Amino acid sequence: MPGLSGKRILLGVTGSIAAYKAADWLRSLVREEAVVTVAMTEAAERFVTPLTFSALSGQAVYRDMFADEPGRVMAHINLSREADAILVAPATAQTIARLAHGMADNLLSSVILAARIPVVICPAMNSFMLSHPATQGNIRRLESFGYHFVQPGSGKLACGEIGDGRLADWDAAREKLLSLFQPDDLKGQTVLITAGPTREALDPVRFLSNRSSGKMGFALARTARRRGAEVTLVAGPVQLPDPPGIEVVHVATAEEMRREVMDRAATADVVVKSAAVADFRPSVYANHKIKKSQQGLQLDLIKNPDILAELGAKRFKRQILVGFAAESRDHAGEGQRKLREKNVDLVVVNDIMGATTGFDVETNQVTLIDYGEAVTLPLLSKEETADRIWDKVLQLQNRPAGA
Ligand code: C5P
Repeated sequence: MPGLSGKRILLGVTGSIAAYKAADWLRSLVREEAVVTVAMTEAAERFVTPLTFSALSGQAVYRDMFADEPGRVMAHINLSREADAILVAPATAQTIARLAHGMADNLLSSVILAARIPVVICPAMNSFMLSHPATQGNIRRLESFGYHFVQPGSGKLACGEIGDGRLADWDAAREKLLSLFQPDDLKGQTVLITAGPTREALDPVRFLSNRSSGKMGFALARTARRRGAEVTLVAGPVQLPDPPGIEVVHVATAEEMRREVMDRAATADVVVKSAAVADFRPSVYANHKIKKSQQGLQLDLIKNPDILAELGAKRFKRQILVGFAAESRDHAGEGQRKLREKNVDLVVVNDIMGATTGFDVETNQVTLIDYGEAVTLPLLSKEETADRIWDKVLQLQNRPAGA
């Protein structure tokens, strides 16, 4: 089941002004078909009413330790038994202190103390409260218990202060939750991924580019991170947000992409070149806008460097090198040719002619071509396709020497 669909999340809301954002997070979880139960502290109710959360979750909200309504007895033990993970958002300095000291003086802290499931804490508070050694010490202590943190962001806070302490973006919390349900099988690996098109300028206004959206490369980056890898993503111009927890290097041209990739490739365990690099660029760049007064225009193009072929010629030790091939015909033949010509370990062949595969769609159908038998995957979301590619990379890394 993709994403957080079907996952049972206990959302603990505590008394920060950011409690209103938790309502939005709840909406996102429900939209993704997660099953969410909400527990609120008394202070949280001062900011947002339980009615907001019960209306959005479709379930009663848990608030009181001592409620004796039917079905709610022993909620402090039972709530976590019925969930896959606990998400505390926003988490105040007070709640973090309570949890760090094993206190059980309200329903939420009691539930967490009794829990045997992963706990994700998203702090939100004034920046001085956050940087105070007491809070920092509490956070370190909770980390030592195995609790997960989603680092707060920086910016203008509700108290007027500018600094750290803003509740993290939902995207970062979602990635953390997703990582809990994944194996850590890429942990310790450094992964370098390229994505998107490149843009080759003709003049200050115009450029040559292609239809690549970057979605496949970004899906590869997110899924690798969730599985524990350290990820660097070198991205051409795309309309996608930077994935959380990933170093994103933005480039425009093939030359820039080459430079950034070559600077980093030697230390990467895996390089995946999913970018649609422009094969040619204009031989001259016009410093001023080319005028339309002339009757026609001849473009003189020169070849761009083939980054993948350059990496294939170098072959850094023990590095797995993965290329992509966007093809409109003879997929297997073209994939085989690129595998050998570019000297790589794996070629992922995309069909760019199908309406549900290739450029700028959410799904993909690819064939994985290595020196063994080619495997055609079913039509999958780009993230599911990315996970299958990582499975294949792990298989290639674990193949016996000489195979
Ligand atoms: O030869 P072709 O462009 O079809 O090969 C595609 C693969 O080569 C992709 O992995 C792409 O990222 C890479 N490539 C590259 N530099 C180029 C052209 C393609 O790295 N100039």
